[in-house]
Amino acid sequence: MSNSDSPPVPERTEQARVRIFDTTLRDGEQSPGISLNRQEKLEIAHQLARLGVDIIEAGFPITSPGDFEAVQAIAREVEGPVICGLARTSKQDVDAAWNAVRDSERPCIHTFISTSDIHIVHQLQTTREDVKGQARAAVAQAKQYLEDVEFSPMDATRAEVEFTAEVIQIALEEGATTINIPDTVGYTMPQEFTAFLGRLYELVPDLRDVVLSVHCHDDLGLAVANSFAGVLAGARQVECAVNGIGERAGNASLEEIVMLLRTRRADIDMDTGVNSTELARTSRLVSRLTGYQVQPNKAIVGRNAFAHESGIHQDGVLKERSTYEIMDATTVGLKSNSLVLGKHSGRHALRDALEEMGFQLDGQALNTAFKRFKEIADRKKQVTAMDLEALVTDELREEIPGYALEWFEVEASSRRPPHARVSVTLPEGGSAEGSFTGDGPIDAVFRAINAAASVEAQLDEFTIGAVTEGQDALGEVSVVVEIDGMSGAGQGVSTDIIDAAARAYVRALSVARARAVASADAVGLPEPAGP
Ligand code: KIV
Ligand code: ZN
Repeated sequence: MSNSDSPPVPERTEQARVRIFDTTLRDGEQSPGISLNRQEKLEIAHQLARLGVDIIEAGFPITSPGDFEAVQAIAREVEGPVICGLARTSKQDVDAAWNAVRDSERPCIHTFISTSDIHIVHQLQTTREDVKGQARAAVAQAKQYLEDVEFSPMDATRAEVEFTAEVIQIALEEGATTINIPDTVGYTMPQEFTAFLGRLYELVPDLRDVVLSVHCHDDLGLAVANSFAGVLAGARQVECAVNGIGERAGNASLEEIVMLLRTRRADIDMDTGVNSTELARTSRLVSRLTGYQVQPNKAIVGRNAFAHESGIHQDGVLKERSTYEIMDATTVGLKSNSLVLGKHSGRHALRDALEEMGFQLDGQALNTAFKRFKEIADRKKQVTAMDLEALVTDELREEIPGYALEWFEVEASSRRPPHARVSVTLPEGGSAEGSFTGDGPIDAVFRAINAAASVEAQLDEFTIGAVTEGQDALGEVSVVVEIDGMSGAGQGVSTDIIDAAARAYVRALSVARARAVASADAVGLPEPAGP
């Protein structure tokens, strides 16, 4: 049995090292309703670098000017990990990926094409010969620009292994440095995946000279199990996303893969270079910025992942933690919520505390943060690291051009329907007021915002939570709205939950509007065939 309290980043031999390829900003961002702007993507990328991932797949540059710019900004600013851009096999895609990542110290292009007949016949409407030609051309083109080229045969697990092997052989001949095997639709099973990879090694002996990677989706809840099977079969790179977000049911969850390898490393002799104490914070940041809440019982980062409810378990843990805990919560960065500041703390103390948490704030940004901090500190006795983190994420985001809340008033009573009045600044300039009644005070505010903004937005999701424990905790609200079929997610943080909800709602409206504008601008761009 391995020791569960070992240090978070142990020394490993190169042979035992599994690379973490994070696709939160690419596959993760393809989750319905998620639309991160450049600033938010940069913030997540900096945190991923702090976490110690090996590769950041920063986006799919051909898909929109916004995605291109975000990948380019990450390539220019984020140091440490390899910065990778995704491309189909077309010349324009590979060029866009190269132009987006070329300023990184460690650039990479990831190109892909399907090898399953289902995709070749129905989606690509082409032939196997053509697929081979496209794979060869794309890898060769990418290799003219840079050394580090990853190739993926998409939908590999539903493809004929012999044909997939032929395409991989071609990619290797052209110089691909990583071969990634995707279970695109989350269909495979661990023992089947092991056999598939084993057969590929037999058919393509040169595969042993490059990095084999796996990319598993979670449609049957097997993404982590299949990725682990891949590692045991020889893969030394796992593609995964924070909180397991991604297309449909998502990707393999980064934190689960990392802690699986860390917790059982004595038995499997493999590990990653991730600093596990940053996992909880990374999860919170991604959840906040994407609006995708983490389920309470989610392994590793769920709020109950280390909570013990039954008396027998509590008794055991009080006597000896290892009776019912295989990991220590502090190794994933939970329970490190020590008091940071109080209402008498000044600007310097705030700046120092934020710096310690990895946020560099000066000038106007520091003034804004300080003003918001003072408001909170007046109402809350203790402002903790978790509160600061939520505030900074909430307050210092680059506002997407759109709507902004100016003020609201709500009358709530058990004797008549609640009534709200709001004032909202509008994207086209100026501001407008709206008033409405609703089923509850928050519903009234949302309807009043719709009236002020003159939109028919429908509320699809609403979640409310507390940043920390205790009666004076900050409230945190996430909403997803839909306007004319375009969805948008937004979050808000405040000591007042109506204020938090109103902030979240106007942000969600702005995101939906920005997405509608971007999709109108994208008309004429080559069709992005979603991986
Ligand atoms: O799921 C998939 O096949 C992908 C590829 C682009 C690797 O995301
Ligand atoms: Zn995928």
